[in-house]
Amino acid sequence: RSVAVIMVGGPTKGTRFRPLSFNVPKPLFPLAGQPMVHHPISACKSISNLVQIYLIGFYEEREFALYVSSISSELKVPVRYLREDKPHGSAGGLYTFRDIIMEESPLQIFLLNCDVCCSFPLTGMLEAHKRYGGIGTMLVSKVVAESANQFGELVADPDTKELLHYTEKPETFVSDLINCGVYIFTPDIFTAIQDVSMHRKDRANLRRVSSFEALQSATKSLPTDFVRLDQDILSPLAGKKQLYTYETVDFWEQIKTPGMSLKCSGLYLNQYRYTSPHLLAVGDGIKSAAVIGNVYIHPSAKVHSTTKIGPNVSISANARIGAGARLINCIILDDVEIKENAVVMHAIVGWKSSVGKWSRVQGEGDYDSKLGITILGEAVTVEDEVVVINSIVLPNKVLNISVQEEIIL
Ligand code: GDD
Repeated sequence: RSVAVIMVGGPTKGTRFRPLSFNVPKPLFPLAGQPMVHHPISACKSISNLVQIYLIGFYEEREFALYVSSISSELKVPVRYLREDKPHGSAGGLYTFRDIIMEESPLQIFLLNCDVCCSFPLTGMLEAHKRYGGIGTMLVSKVVAESANQFGELVADPDTKELLHYTEKPETFVSDLINCGVYIFTPDIFTAIQDVSMHRKDRANLRRVSSFEALQSATKSLPTDFVRLDQDILSPLAGKKQLYTYETVDFWEQIKTPGMSLKCSGLYLNQYRYTSPHLLAVGDGIKSAAVIGNVYIHPSAKVHSTTKIGPNVSISANARIGAGARLINCIILDDVEIKENAVVMHAIVGWKSSVGKWSRVQGEGDYDSKLGITILGEAVTVEDEVVVINSIVLPNKVLNISVQEEIIL
């Protein structure tokens, strides 16, 4: 028996995702037409004997209620949201709900970060995990050396795949092999977290009996129930024949910014070719719109037959796309109206926004730079014949003049 746990964080996390996280929790922001968290959840379908999926976070429960009940009936595996009263860190959050998780008597606990985009090769990982016989197996990937310091960097034994050394976001380069934020643990992980927490308590007690100086350093230290999976668990357990690695050569990205969400939407659309081709739009160019490459169109969206759409376009519920419009590499959210002959390219258009006739909303398509794509927040109106380039527009603005490289507050 297995259970899966997906760490979704909370409103104080994911601030880099603004302005898109203003009206939807980041884990529910749609990528390729499905909420971000939907992709790891549907990957869990491949786990045999999966009895339960938990989402752990500190968002309000009601924000996830609707999604959790619809996905449970769709997957036929119960999905439950467990809310922390405050952030406990990535391992502390898991530990908080150990009793509930252990009610299912799982042999394996799959633990997935919600904000990573990959093919989640969970069955291959599980086979390897059983072979290794450690308490945990983590998914790892090679990245370009310059970007490795944004992640946990690690060294693994080339033959046994044992994790030999682990450093979280190091200042000096250690390795281009990084932690993908996808793990399988045996229930012994709870003992490892408990040890860290107990050790902290002991140290805090020692400090209490000593001097003012120690008191000062105590205020700097973390609360005893706040435990980070990476620094507090993975680093100390490396090189002790307890943790092993499984390398993916498939795509892997982290989704911290709106730019990366556009890139990852494209990666998931491409994955639909293999996993869910029925979700991809097909156009014949006569009766329906011309479709190029991977495109998702929600069944309730109204797309005029003279539009040209793609590649990498995702159109959400009730959007209306007018005659002659051209959409390339963009996410169009619910209730958006794109009027006749408008162009939207390398951009995200927020809920209920409208783009006027002959207007252009455009970015340069650089996912890593702050103004590399154009983002319209919720309910933004771009009037007719207005050009918006490499800009971020906050919710409820009306643009009647053209702008370039600007953040409109
Ligand atoms: N429930 C809950 N409670 N979730 C949390 C908490 C918490 O207190 N803190 C973080 N998370 C969730 C985040 O939402 C995310 O899904 C995951 O735990 C890891 O978040 P962080 O601890 O902020 O780390 P990170 O995302 O900067 O980096 C981690 O993931 C990378 C892969 O994406 C590290 O493990 C890196 O080593 C790794 O490369």
